Amino acid sequence: MRAYIAGVGSYTPDKILNNFDFEKIVDTSDEWIRTRSGIQERHIAADNQATSDLAFFAAKRALKSAGVKSKNLSAIVVGTATPDMPFPSTACLLQKRLGAPSIFAFDISAGCTGFLYALGIAENFVMNNYDNVLVIGADTLTRITDYTDRTTCVLFGDAAGAVVLKKGNSASGILASHFASDGSSWQLLHQPAGGSRMPPSHETVDQRLHVIKMQGNEVFKLAVRAMCDAAVITLKKANVSASQLKLLIPHQANIRIIEASAKRLHLPMDRVLVNLDRYGNTSTASIPLALDEAVRTGRVEKDDLVLMVAFGAGFTWGGVLFRY
Ligand code: ACO
Repeated sequence: MRAYIAGVGSYTPDKILNNFDFEKIVDTSDEWIRTRSGIQERHIAADNQATSDLAFFAAKRALKSAGVKSKNLSAIVVGTATPDMPFPSTACLLQKRLGAPSIFAFDISAGCTGFLYALGIAENFVMNNYDNVLVIGADTLTRITDYTDRTTCVLFGDAAGAVVLKKGNSASGILASHFASDGSSWQLLHQPAGGSRMPPSHETVDQRLHVIKMQGNEVFKLAVRAMCDAAVITLKKANVSASQLKLLIPHQANIRIIEASAKRLHLPMDRVLVNLDRYGNTSTASIPLALDEAVRTGRVEKDDLVLMVAFGAGFTWGGVLFRY
């Protein structure tokens, strides 16, 4: 018996900012952003849209694609770094809105690896007789983006992606996973204020401490190594070689990170899903958003082997290998 992905869905808000829009906001250029990150445009949540609003539409689509009614869910696990509010969890807000009584729902925080961590947690529930678990990665990172900082503001977009995990006895399902974290370099990517360490005050707002602070080039080096480790270890656990993969779905942070990872795995780029040109870095939404695109466009079909790998704040990283 295995936990398998029975349905997938995603949602991106309507508003789009392209690189030329950023030329008017900070000292940057379309050429710099495209060549250094691979990003061309990103979707931005409307003023009245919070993370749970994006997650709601992604969840509805995943439930429809799985043919599962929300009343038949047994749990909701949401990976997010930008919940609607510190508490209650975004998952509980979704439980109410989806109309899923008598289940349990909670958020997990693992930066951009949040969706894969959530999937790993959900797999354990599914294998322990909680069938139909809704797993969501959703973020509105643009709400904590500093639009005066050219080194970060061009990178992020908003989105949500969701899958429904079920238990089945076919060959389809999660074959192996690997999760890791290392908090020793947390300062390289963090949001300093707003938590118990530095509660909100006039000073924290004046000093712009409620936004993402990232040393991009340091994070870059760690990301390549961690994503490759995650891929190699996950494949090894399942005794699968990279050449057997139909598709690698990496976290969409930077095209150069993705290309370096593919190169180390000896995978041609036509077997790697890249959509960050259209969405930027959507944090926990990045992998389910890409998976949804892969399924909808036929790049992943029944029985294909797919490896998802991610890296994010913490630092956290991981891989999940499944047969679709
Ligand atoms: N436009 C023009 N110039 C810029 C811009 C910009 N938008 N941003 C930075 N620069 C300049 C810098 O100021 C610097 O100038 P200097 O040499 O005069 O000092 C120069 O470009 C090079 O800066 P680097 O930071 O070294 O640029 P790099 O090539 O590393 O690219 C980037 C920066 C795109 C951020 C890259 O490092 C990256 O993608 N890092 C990893 C991000 C990541 O993976 N994050 C983890 C997941 S995210 C999450 O968990 C939320």
